[in-house]
Amino acid sequence: MQIANPTSLTATALIALLLFGSACKKPEATKERHLAFATGVMQDVLPGLVKSLQVKVTSGGTAAAVPFCNEFAAQYGKAKLGVWSEKARTELGADSFLFRRISTRARNPKNTPSERQAQVLESWEKGNASPAYFEEAGKHYTMHPIKISQPLCLSCHGAADKIEKKTLASIRALYPADKATGYQLGDLRGAFVTETIYAAQ
Ligand code: HEC
Repeated sequence: MQIANPTSLTATALIALLLFGSACKKPEATKERHLAFATGVMQDVLPGLVKSLQVKVTSGGTAAAVPFCNEFAAQYGKAKLGVWSEKARTELGADSFLFRRISTRARNPKNTPSERQAQVLESWEKGNASPAYFEEAGKHYTMHPIKISQPLCLSCHGAADKIEKKTLASIRALYPADKATGYQLGDLRGAFVTETIYAAQ
């Protein structure tokens, strides 16, 4: 009969404790950490985008704001991404960080959700749209709902026959596959998504 070496037994117990201990605590803490970080990002990024849109609509009219939205969303997003990916590195220890807006009825096809993200959006349509967190293929995702929060949104995302003709023409020219009209005030429009990657995982 073989008698187990007490040192290796202790080591096994220690490894088990570490594994199970972290399995009990880690998921919730990981979820909270990513959701809290993403809330900070969203609260910094989205109001600035809406504010610039408001200024542009007021100064040049809605139609002129369509191409602006197209270019500005990309440029502004890039600048903010630089700041926040650095923060994700220092505050979360992340190796890669991204954020984007998605919708099941996207205007820009680049904003089409993944299958898993589409499932979350569908569940939000049916019930309470509370922020979501999940892991997929080693990446950590958060999703926060974006709603049609004000009449301004309707001037480009409302019923097609209520959108100013010039504006609609500009939307159709830039986005031939546009699906993002027909919304009403308060509707779920999509989500603000963050994606965090840790190389060491
Ligand atoms: C001046 C027209 C205009 C207004 C006003 C406007 N949008 Fe958009 N929206 C656009 C355009 C153009 C895009 C595509 C941007 C791109 O190319 O990424 C877009 C894209 C989006 C997206 C990304 C998903 C997709 O469909 O591609 C969301 C979410 C969104 N808008 C929400 C809103 C909300 C909420 C408001 C009101 C606060 C709003 N928009 C107001 C023109 C507008």
